[in-house]
Amino acid sequence: MIDPSQGLDDRVDLLIADGRIARWGRDLQAPESAETVDLAPDCVISPGFVDLHAHLREPGGEHKETIASGARAAAAGGFTSVCAMPNTDPPIDDPAAVGFVRAEGMRAGAARVYPVAAATVGSQGTQMTEIGELVQAGAVAVTDDGRPIASSKIMRRLLEYTQTFGIPVLSHAEELALSGNGVMNEGLISTTLGLQGIPNAAEDVMVARDVILAGLTAGHVHICHVSTQGAVELIRAAKARGVNVTAEVTPHHLTLTDEAVQGYRTECKVNPPLRSRADVEAVRAALVEGVIDCVATDHAPHHYEEKEREFDDAPFGVVGLETALGVSLKVLVEPGLLDLAGLIDRLACRPARIVPLPEGTGTLAAGAPGDVTVFDPTKRTRVRPERFHSRSRNTPFAGWELPGVVLLTIVGGRVVHRGEAQG
Ligand code: DOR
Repeated sequence: MIDPSQGLDDRVDLLIADGRIARWGRDLQAPESAETVDLAPDCVISPGFVDLHAHLREPGGEHKETIASGARAAAAGGFTSVCAMPNTDPPIDDPAAVGFVRAEGMRAGAARVYPVAAATVGSQGTQMTEIGELVQAGAVAVTDDGRPIASSKIMRRLLEYTQTFGIPVLSHAEELALSGNGVMNEGLISTTLGLQGIPNAAEDVMVARDVILAGLTAGHVHICHVSTQGAVELIRAAKARGVNVTAEVTPHHLTLTDEAVQGYRTECKVNPPLRSRADVEAVRAALVEGVIDCVATDHAPHHYEEKEREFDDAPFGVVGLETALGVSLKVLVEPGLLDLAGLIDRLACRPARIVPLPEGTGTLAAGAPGDVTVFDPTKRTRVRPERFHSRSRNTPFAGWELPGVVLLTIVGGRVVHRGEAQG
């Protein structure tokens, strides 16, 4: 059992009772009525993973994903909590819509689903939503993700106002005037392919603005899907001067460069775009160092027919819930950048502290919710998108052989996913 929140890495038994962690220790006596699971020696018991960033598409995009299919995909990936982005159709910008996401999440009975509400009405960027009411209805953060909050004035007000409610503003940091009609990273490869590029500066300029405004207001800004070396440097400097900023990085930005786009592979079209080798190295190092706090998937399902369009016309996004653990193990743990405890910290413990989730989320301390992930980091499997629980298949990792099989995902003491190769 590895639980960085308690500095624990030991061969112990774990007892869950009445939906909560009862206790852990060596050779625990299980009550007679208990269901027991014997695990192979290499298996790891971890606090359930927490994904701060997933697009579940409901309402309006049910052909790509539903809250239920997304919650099942999350559970299959070892996530016990998932934050649902509000860029649906219509956007989640009123309390009834927040309530709908929560209720559908509960009905799915898989990973817990926490709604993130739109920061502005209709995500149009002009008028702030009723943040107090949205939080009361269950929203754990606000964002217009998918697009930036273009107005610095509105961003300032959001960072001021959200403090009352103890939630962060999740920033999709993109200066639209610089990204324009770009469809991939700006560089040699975009030139060779004849595709319009998105410069690193489109992200860097907005991260600079956001950390300046967080400094001005003392509000909490969380930078989504960091992809550039420049953004890393800005976040590092802001943290050093005490700005309330946190950040996430996706498994794909930790792994792939813009070279993956060659052949006009729309499954590699994502926003922010896959960057250069130097950027990939920088975001990896930043995650290790703690400048970037956690891994988040930016799970962005799209329908096969939409991704089949020409590169320019295909939508941005990759699915990530069911490959996040394997990709992270491959690029962070196998090369020795992080040990298993370090990765679990960034998949479970740290994200749980960024948004206000129920007490005890991200830990296996006695009394915490019984949200547990059991995986075997030594087993390897091939990524077969046709077997995804997600309704969509748009992954750049199809056919990759990845380490790490999720054996059990337990939410509130109930097994919501059982992997195939149980030891
Ligand atoms: O690639 C992306 N897809 N980036 C975003 O910011 C939005 C997301 C989506 O909703 O498809």
